[in-house]
Amino acid sequence: SQLPKLYQPLRIRGLTLKNRVVLSPMCMYSSDDGFATDFHLVHIGQYALRGVGLVVMEASGVAPEGRITPNCLGIWKDAHIEKLQQIVNFAHTNKAAIGIQLAHAGRKSSTTAPWLMKVQGTNADAAHGGWPDKVVGPSEVAFDARSWTPRELKIEDIQRTQQEFADAAVRADKAGFDVIELHGAHGYLIHEFLSPISNKRTDEYGGSFENRIRFLIEIVRKVRGMWPKEKPLFVRLSVTDWVPPSDEIPSGGWTEEESIELSKELVKEGVDLVDCSTSGSSPKQQIPLAPGYQVPFAAAIKKKVPGLLSGAVGLITDAKLSNEVLEEDKADLIFIGRALLRQPNFALDAGRHLDTFVQYPHQYERGRVKSKLTF
Ligand code: FNR
Repeated sequence: SQLPKLYQPLRIRGLTLKNRVVLSPMCMYSSDDGFATDFHLVHIGQYALRGVGLVVMEASGVAPEGRITPNCLGIWKDAHIEKLQQIVNFAHTNKAAIGIQLAHAGRKSSTTAPWLMKVQGTNADAAHGGWPDKVVGPSEVAFDARSWTPRELKIEDIQRTQQEFADAAVRADKAGFDVIELHGAHGYLIHEFLSPISNKRTDEYGGSFENRIRFLIEIVRKVRGMWPKEKPLFVRLSVTDWVPPSDEIPSGGWTEEESIELSKELVKEGVDLVDCSTSGSSPKQQIPLAPGYQVPFAAAIKKKVPGLLSGAVGLITDAKLSNEVLEEDKADLIFIGRALLRQPNFALDAGRHLDTFVQYPHQYERGRVKSKLTF
């Protein structure tokens, strides 16, 4: 009998993933000057040990001012490569594929790690390692009244930032990563260009759909040019801003229809998979949270964009739902965030709920649930 789809391998370019479970990128706010640490080795390493097919390291700044917080991971200098390489090697030794999310936080940069917010406030000022003067965006529009107002990127700044993504891709390759995911979601810089909520430019990077997608398309071209042909390239999008229509912005914001049109361009540029998240552009967003609430977007993109794979993410917390989404051909990979923080064994134990034997790491084999007497 055939394996449940969750455990079927997937080949993308030269990479074969052993199953469809992906550790969704999650900021750990545990870096200093962008460096990965032993925390990352153990944290990311545990998922490689515990059966996840692809572990994706958190949003990593392609420039210091592109970090969300002063404690975020970075990949803007060659010195960052060595520790990342150690993490990559550990993943590979344990037969997991490993990716890294390349990011620039744009107008949502220079903020504070969640657990420091009560003490330091939500914005990181210079005294707390922040860079208020270097917060940038497509336009001088703040996310909300409490956020930094970004400085508008000039054309030469745009070109430099795009080159920073390409340089980061070269470092990711040197570190040995199998996959790059570009962070085009959650109200960070790439998404800020896409959405009319944050992009008020009147030059070739703002206004029409073609202009708003230009920043991302040019990054994809540059990154794809540096990133080896046999290695997959993913893009995470906020497929919709979930903002109701207004007089100022009749579409509300960035929309599902635009994401589908953008995805058609992305596949032409050599993007292999769009990871379908949502929101992050505006405090006016209204998100209908429910299990698998973003799955329909992954399904729409997969269906309407031939040749492109899609990833589903968001409140997918159990084995049955994960497998169903795949069996119903709504997505190719299941990205799991918080459920993996709670249950790092998810990829090993989901098999029990799908009547499938999943090999434990030899060292852990005696911990497998074998009878009602094992807990
Ligand atoms: C996140 N998320 C996230 N997304 C992203 O694209 N890059 C990132 O670095 C982060 N960082 C991050 C940190 C933490 C602690 C959480 C909980 C979430 C979003 C995450 O990848 C995922 O899309 C959401 O959490 C929804 O999926 P789950 O958690 O419901 O499976």
